[in-house]
Amino acid sequence: MATKSIDLSVRWRGITFPNPVITGSSEIADDAWSTERCLANGVGGVVTKTYTYQPEMRTRPKPYHAHFAKFGLPDSWITFVRLDTKPWELALKQELPKMVGMCKKAKVPLIGSIAQTPEPERMLEMALGFENVGCDALEVDSSCPQTDWVKDDIPQGTTCGESHELMERTIKLLAERIDIPVIYKLSPLFEPPAYFAKIWLEAGADAITAHNAPTGMMIDIEKEEPFCAPYVCGYLPGRAYVPISIGRIVEIKRAFPDAVIMGLGGVYEPQDVIMYLLAGSLTAGAVSSAYQHGREIFPKLVGGLEDWMAHKGYTSVEQFAGKALERVGEPAPESHPIPFPIPELPSDIIAKVNIDSCTFCNLCVVCPYEAIEISSLEQTLDIDADRCWGCGYCVGLCPEADTLYMIDVNTDEVVWDNKGIAKALEPIGTRSSTAKTADELIA
Ligand SMILES: Cc1cc2nc3c(=O)[nH]c(=O)nc-3n(C[C@H](O)[C@H](O)[C@H](O)COP(=O)(O)O)c2cc1C
Ligand code: SF4
Ligand code: SF4
Repeated sequence: MATKSIDLSVRWRGITFPNPVITGSSEIADDAWSTERCLANGVGGVVTKTYTYQPEMRTRPKPYHAHFAKFGLPDSWITFVRLDTKPWELALKQELPKMVGMCKKAKVPLIGSIAQTPEPERMLEMALGFENVGCDALEVDSSCPQTDWVKDDIPQGTTCGESHELMERTIKLLAERIDIPVIYKLSPLFEPPAYFAKIWLEAGADAITAHNAPTGMMIDIEKEEPFCAPYVCGYLPGRAYVPISIGRIVEIKRAFPDAVIMGLGGVYEPQDVIMYLLAGSLTAGAVSSAYQHGREIFPKLVGGLEDWMAHKGYTSVEQFAGKALERVGEPAPESHPIPFPIPELPSDIIAKVNIDSCTFCNLCVVCPYEAIEISSLEQTLDIDADRCWGCGYCVGLCPEADTLYMIDVNTDEVVWDNKGIAKALEPIGTRSSTAKTADELIA
């Protein structure tokens, strides 16, 4: 168990989050009742559900959650919830003062969320209300996948956030009139992320939340029609989203190292929180995992982070925040300046097995080149060196540590063991000299 000397807090613009695991905007914290439950579960920050002055955005069809469990996607679904059901003025009078009070008592920052709309002046009215009620910061949902109805009113794209002119006007207006930090929320559908970040940051955005959920659709193959909703819409969360969201955050951080990013998307495990922090995100938000597993997921995420810090010997988050960015290469592998050879067989890099720790589970037999032959009966696993292209697919599938790995046949050096960066892909100038031989790896 972790020790008390670990400080999990993160700070930004005078705001202290007691730990970096926060709620993402959603029904997880949309009134005093739900906020109290988040606080009781140890969240480090609360982002409210998004409020709007547009009554049509407060509507929702029923059903509005269509789970994908029957499609074999146990942690994914599509939701058509839209924005908060209460008028924002009413929420400001009834729920927000209570939410502010309980967050202040718990010393947990409260970030009010308001919707991006085509009318920045009316957004300012809402923003002033949220500032005056005592929110520590404001998040502007500029990426709600449900706002495609406004497309006639904006010059391009399907959500307000895709209109650069509208975003610049909004960001400048709020920066001029609102004292608390204002954070703008990106959609994973806004490409390329660094281009949007540039426009938003240069206009005066204090931080960027990355990311909202994309839209999507499933097809019911028995009925031969769309599943639940006949529209490409809704929020589509799920754990598979982690690498997409982190990849985009890394792109923004590389372009703007000082940008403050509040990452979320697919956070289901403590390791997801840690990955976001290592990628340079200030916080790691969670929504769909709290639906799927209840708000009890929050102490598990925080506890897992603390245990990992103890294991690594870290006593504060800043000691490792953004550390993985130092090992991000320039440029991307497809235009890597190292002259990779055109592959041919036999390959100089092939998979190798440590038969002593192989459990003969057969997972790796799916080698796309049929280079692996396993006999559970005879307890043998043969990798045909004349067929193995050194692609690495099998190594990622093996559930046993240091059992299947890639070697350089000329030197017997381990070039990838399913951990960290593979040797041939290391950024130039950062190549480690710690490569082991196969014997050293399994020793
Ligand atoms: C049920 C539900 C409601 C959501 N409501 C909002 C919202 O009102 N405003 C907003 O900015 N994002 C909203 N989101 C998006 C989440 O804040 C978050 O960006 C997205 O779901 C990715 O995180 P996750 O994978 O942890 O769910 C909602 C997501 C879900 C699943
Ligand atoms: S590295 Fe690729 S080609 Fe070689 S055995 Fe594994 S899956 Fe097959
Ligand atoms: S996946 Fe790993 S443990 Fe399973 S058969 Fe292959 S080498 Fe052995």
